[in-house]
Amino acid sequence: MAKQSREQWRSRSGFLLAAVGSAVGLGNMWRFSYLASEKGGAGFVGLYLLFTLLIGLPVMLAELTIGRGARSGPVMALAHYGGSAWRWLGAVFVATGFLILSYYGVIGGWTIRYAFEAATIGFPVDSAAHFDDLASGYDSLATQVAFMAMTILIVCGGIGSGIERVARVAMPGLFVIMIGIALYAFTLDGAGAGYAYYLNFDLEKALTLDVIVAAAGQAFFSLSLGMGVMLTFASYLPRDSHLAKETAVISFADFGVAYVAGLMVFPLIFALGMGSEISGSTIGALFVALPKAFATMGLVGRIVGLAFFLALVVGALTSAISLLEVLVSASMDAFHWERRRAALVSGVLVTGLGAWSAFDLDILDLADSIAINLFLVGGGLGITIFVGWIMHDPIGEASAGGTPSIVYVIWRGLLRYVVPAALLFILWHALPETWAKFRAVAGLG
Ligand code: PFF
Repeated sequence: MAKQSREQWRSRSGFLLAAVGSAVGLGNMWRFSYLASEKGGAGFVGLYLLFTLLIGLPVMLAELTIGRGARSGPVMALAHYGGSAWRWLGAVFVATGFLILSYYGVIGGWTIRYAFEAATIGFPVDSAAHFDDLASGYDSLATQVAFMAMTILIVCGGIGSGIERVARVAMPGLFVIMIGIALYAFTLDGAGAGYAYYLNFDLEKALTLDVIVAAAGQAFFSLSLGMGVMLTFASYLPRDSHLAKETAVISFADFGVAYVAGLMVFPLIFALGMGSEISGSTIGALFVALPKAFATMGLVGRIVGLAFFLALVVGALTSAISLLEVLVSASMDAFHWERRRAALVSGVLVTGLGAWSAFDLDILDLADSIAINLFLVGGGLGITIFVGWIMHDPIGEASAGGTPSIVYVIWRGLLRYVVPAALLFILWHALPETWAKFRAVAGLG
């Protein structure tokens, strides 16, 4: 079969919106909020910012460089630069995407359910019981399937007319809604307690291994790094794009959205007296405390709540499509499938695996820990070593769109020494915690 020419983004802004769409998602709102509250607020946020700058930026530039240069999905791209032995790293990326999307689709389903209910019946006062009802079991499976069907449909549309078109509408909408809600929350009496909770710096709390590991994992997850999403997206870029600039824009937007999400979530929760709901924080915090707050606010609560959950649906969808795109581009490369077939087969398989999480929240939590703390951080370590030590002339490849500046020299230095050392440290300390979680869920003691 003749190889068709590779799809391309229609414009630079289209690529940026799609990449920011991938980065901004449930990680910025659901995961960031519950971690920030569980791990002590500002200390966690500070570490997360530090890891975004020190580790996230270099790894993102590494992924973009490989993807744009090789113009293929992760497995072929790594083989292109490193020989076939490096395929296995690409294969780990694909497996990680598979695992993440499996449970991401379940949470995406919850967001659809909340948005739908906000528009129709409103928020129930007993939000904890409501969350228990809808978060696992057949209800959860049904919303997961709906969410995944939308994801598959968009990816079938391709790069320019599917992913880029959706991101172009969805992302500006999401920004407007978030800023609007953050400003609204600022006007509420009692919002100050929320800011205090979120922004109070407690050094002792921040400098524990547990918080460090969580902040690093969150930086990877939030920036969609460590599993080839950015690599795949860059494979549809023209050769003359300025990768360092794109890296900065994507990372800045992603951190900005997470930060604003905190300015939106915590004041709302505290102003409405729901602070105690998040102190014993679990993965359900956002889906319990916020709806409860909305339920006490009458019509305004319905409107703000609807806007909030719509933004969450949008964020989740634009991230899920990027996850699916990794599986799709890898299977198109490997089996020469056409896009629709690749999207349908991989989408259905992922949904099947996700059904397990839809029926059991412990499995969802475990999949999240394993995928992020081990696979994303491990995948990031792999790509760092690859670009820092194996790939020939990474600086030349990265700067193909411009003159190599000092930025690229610093980048290579970070990739060779600082980033691998930091990631090894983090991985080493993430292992026991993840293993303990695994044992608990598997009933091993
Ligand atoms: N970055 C997305 C979020 O913050 O929700 C999630 C994600 C997408 C993680 C793509 C990893 C990934 F490859």
